[in-house]
Amino acid sequence: MALPKRYEAIDEWKTLMFLYDSALREINTKIEILNNEFLHVHNYNPIEHVKSRIKSAESIVKKLKRDGHEATVDNMVKYLNDIAGIRIICSFTSDIYKIADMISNQSDVKVLMIKNYIANPKPNGYKSYHMVVSIPIFLSDGPVDTKVEIQIRTIAMDFWASLEHKIYYKFEGKAPAYISEELKECADMVNMLDERMLSLNEAIKALEEKEREEQEAEEKRRQKEA
Ligand code: GTP
Ligand code: MG
Repeated sequence: MALPKRYEAIDEWKTLMFLYDSALREINTKIEILNNEFLHVHNYNPIEHVKSRIKSAESIVKKLKRDGHEATVDNMVKYLNDIAGIRIICSFTSDIYKIADMISNQSDVKVLMIKNYIANPKPNGYKSYHMVVSIPIFLSDGPVDTKVEIQIRTIAMDFWASLEHKIYYKFEGKAPAYISEELKECADMVNMLDERMLSLNEAIKALEEKEREEQEAEEKRRQKEA
């Protein structure tokens, strides 16, 4: 991420925050357009809701220190992928890959990293699809590639992750065994719920398709008779 020369006299932190904020806006707009297009073409909304945030200065410093880096502006640009973060929540597991593909296929989006915790859940039961992408922000002097972390998960996975996060912080990573075990069991239930909701939705779609075909056949029959 090389900043234009005339930005040298301006506070670098503020410039970076401006860029990360712009990147969030760009990605948010892309996601909104994709969702609207999906509604327009398939009559269906793959995205339940979207949350985005810029990491606080405090959390940036904390994370750099955790990873053994000095808290400098250079290090934060180099080592942190999640200063700008977006979380996309959808209803069904099948939507996750559709959304990931639609974002990756955009010609100005570069996918820098993928972590698929859906195919490979973490030992604690965490599931989510993570992408780090970069997107050009078009300043008056030219484009600056800016990183955004995108997390895509179902409502059920999100529910689980929020509680796990709360528990992790509460016990500073050392939760009593019975709580971690209970959480793991909940993760298994989340899996089952996601699978069953998906097949239920597939069944509804199949039924709708059958009804549509029957109506079409009926319509043809009537036209023949007339
Ligand atoms: P950090 O863990 O943030 O240093 O990032 P990383 O480089 O290990 O990347 P990873 O893709 O593993 O995690 C990125 C983000 O996903 C985290 O900052 C969390 O927001 C979320 N995340 C990852 N693992 C867990 C987990 O076990 N539980 C919860 N609740 N969230 C997680
Ligand atoms: Mg991690």
